[in-house]
Amino acid sequence: MPKNYFDEPIAKGYDARWADLFEPAVVEPAVSFLADLAGTGAALELGIGTGRIALPLSRRGVRVHGIELSAAMVAQLQAKPGADNIAVTVGDFATTRVDGSFKVAYLVRNTITNLTTQDEQVECFRNVAAHLEPGGCFVIEVYIPELQRLPPGETIHAFTVTPTHLGFEEYDVATQIAFSHHYWMVDGQLETFSAPFRYVWPSELDLMAQLAGMILRERWSSWEREPFTSDSRSHVSVWEKTR
Ligand SMILES: C[S@@+](CC[C@H](N)C(=O)[O-])C[C@H]1O[C@@H](n2cnc3c(N)ncnc32)[C@H](O)[C@@H]1O
Repeated sequence: MPKNYFDEPIAKGYDARWADLFEPAVVEPAVSFLADLAGTGAALELGIGTGRIALPLSRRGVRVHGIELSAAMVAQLQAKPGADNIAVTVGDFATTRVDGSFKVAYLVRNTITNLTTQDEQVECFRNVAAHLEPGGCFVIEVYIPELQRLPPGETIHAFTVTPTHLGFEEYDVATQIAFSHHYWMVDGQLETFSAPFRYVWPSELDLMAQLAGMILRERWSSWEREPFTSDSRSHVSVWEKTR
């Protein structure tokens, strides 16, 4: 079982700490995108967390089932209005099977990189394929590694620098791991979070999809369907189950 980095202290503060991600301007385009793909079918969220996307998607009438490693994150979700409509299975989304078949499965906010080996990421694609109806889709939202923007020889990228939050990642090209560190000042106290993430390029994800019997259907740089280009810093990709 992968290590759980989203334990009680992180789970309790998740919505407040990443409040910008809960803004309607961030949530609504993702929910619309996923609702369009789900149609009248069901949706499976891998790493459902505190329900940032699942709850509004469920409010649109889509039946949502979540898989989540952290019982503490699930407890936060289940304390919210509307959570009764969402089934959650506690487990590793690379291997955990749930009942039913789905029109769409989705993995947002860079969460594929929480699986820190290639084998686990491939396993995740295969697990998704086993849950999808024929013609169903798998959607991933994930960042493009910042390596091409780093000065030669540099391995550290600071992604947030404010008086109360320092966030940076250290790239190790040999292992394809970006170790991410956060330091927050909260009420005069220092709070920290560090974890390894396996960064992954779009082409490698396409190959994982192929191994699992899926083919790329769409790739955008955002949920608003802006074009994906060499300058894009993240992507939303949709693979369709073909066999
Ligand atoms: C960055 S949070 C995203 C939560 C939610 N999807 C959102 O958009 O706010 C990543 C979530 O994935 C969960 N997670 C990470 N690795 C997992 C795994 N292997 N299996 C199941 N859940 C996992 C974490 O516990 C955490 O709740």
